[in-house]
Amino acid sequence: MTILGIETSCDETAAAVIQDGQKILSNVVSSSVELHQKTGGIIPETAAREQSRCLIPVIKESLTRAKITSQQISALAVTTGPGLIGSLLVGVETAKTLASVWRKPIVPINHLQAHLYANWLTPNQEKPKFPALGLVVSGGHTDLVLMKDHSKIKWLGGTRDDAAGECFDKCARLLGLGYPGGPAIAAAAAKFKEQRIKNKVKLPRPMKHEDNFDFSFSGLKTAVLNEVKKLKEAKQFKEVNLNQLADEIQEAITDVLVTKTKKAAEKYDVKAVVLAGGVMANLRLREKFELTIFNSQLFSPAPALCTDNATFIAARAFFNYHPVPWQKIQADSSLEIEEVIKS
Ligand code: KG4
Ligand code: ZN
Repeated sequence: MTILGIETSCDETAAAVIQDGQKILSNVVSSSVELHQKTGGIIPETAAREQSRCLIPVIKESLTRAKITSQQISALAVTTGPGLIGSLLVGVETAKTLASVWRKPIVPINHLQAHLYANWLTPNQEKPKFPALGLVVSGGHTDLVLMKDHSKIKWLGGTRDDAAGECFDKCARLLGLGYPGGPAIAAAAAKFKEQRIKNKVKLPRPMKHEDNFDFSFSGLKTAVLNEVKKLKEAKQFKEVNLNQLADEIQEAITDVLVTKTKKAAEKYDVKAVVLAGGVMANLRLREKFELTIFNSQLFSPAPALCTDNATFIAARAFFNYHPVPWQKIQADSSLEIEEVIKS
């Protein structure tokens, strides 16, 4: 089965062609990140305008690279939410039009659930077994879920305020680093040389030891704001101090994520731990997970498949194949990772 995936939930415009939920025949991502770098964050209208300009060429390119025609596609899959409503509408309405004109089935896809399916894009390799624990760490979400099977996804906990990626992005802005903040903080942290600094800043690890599966990152951001103020007052807002602070931000966020994920994996005695979302592109986070002993198999996607793209949208559609008449498909900006099944 060959599925064309379409993804426009945030600032990316993406299309991919995936065979049997695993083999990537093409993966095209056009990002408007350069436009957002100028403003230091995403302006929803700018993102949606860029997506309406790029989506058709991106879809065409994905078919060309996959060396297939629209007639050879078995179905379409499109992100219906969560995300920016203007951006979602561009993808959803385009996909519905194509499904109707091409007379193909179309599968609505929850972006958060789909992130996890980057771990199924591994042809000829063992797939995660159920029950599995899923961690989705993205720009807008931090969620722990129990996957009983492909269709039963139960929410265990998540952030009470800022998401992990959002914390990276906001802290990067406080430090005067670029957008997106995650890669900028990781790059500054990599430059940090411990021996060159006397008073190292120590940040809190919010909710790390609490007996639940929730997270909270806004206090961490406030602590960083206070440290930045202190450094500025002491005329110590210099590269070496910023790099140490970046390193400590990365350590604090990753500590909490790993500790809580391990706790949940043990409590639910899962067979697999499935990691996903843009923040999983962080090399230090990946390293910490690899160094942690789990009683279950650990899966993390290649870094390039962690951030938003359409490969995992199509993969999710294959493994949980529920086409819907195109007339019934609607964008829903506030979709949750655990969906209430509508009868
Ligand atoms: O999943 P994603 O691409 O988009 C959403 O669905 O939100 O995640 C984007 C988030 C951003 O907050 C970005 O700063 C973060 O992922 N991110 C990273 C890294 N690469 C992307 N965070 C930490 N380290 C990275 N290397
Ligand atoms: Zn995402």
